[in-house]
Amino acid sequence: MEAKAAKVEEKTGVVEAGPLKKEETGLGKGGRRSFFLKLGWWGFAIFLATWIVSFMRFFFPRCLFEPPMTFKAGFPWEYTVGVVSTRFQKEYRVWIVRESEGFYALFGQCTHLGCTPVWWEGENKFKCPCHGSGFTKEGINYEGPAPRPLERVKVTLAPDGQLLVDKSVRFRQERGEWEKPGAFLRA
Ligand code: FES
Repeated sequence: MEAKAAKVEEKTGVVEAGPLKKEETGLGKGGRRSFFLKLGWWGFAIFLATWIVSFMRFFFPRCLFEPPMTFKAGFPWEYTVGVVSTRFQKEYRVWIVRESEGFYALFGQCTHLGCTPVWWEGENKFKCPCHGSGFTKEGINYEGPAPRPLERVKVTLAPDGQLLVDKSVRFRQERGEWEKPGAFLRA
């Protein structure tokens, strides 16, 4: 090989270069090209990992599991005339009131800023713990900053004879909606 290179040098006056050592190519350990190559691979790996995580999140959507809007609330005979039932307050935020002529269901959300009022049996009123609004048993606002009555939700009878409450249908007293079917169940 050396003899051949010497021959070429002799003929042409040009020195033939031998193969580059690894360090000279920049691909050796610690070379600049090696550094950028590694950087590129790391970038790609991070991109790939991020993409996989985002893709997997698609199968686990961030959502709140809320109780259903419609629920059965037992049979009419389970209720006592004149009593506000708080049985479904915690789970569904609804009070069911039994009057001598029938039922209505109030949605437990204060019409001031949305807190949940508390039913005070002894005082015969709903009292909001946030800013002190008070509502009668019928849901009419009479003290504090609440600007309007509580809203009613739809109550009907299910085919099996139980009360069926539908929170997706609301009735507002100030709009005259308490006269609509579903705002009061005659029973
Ligand atoms: S939220 Fe009920 S009084 Fe303010």
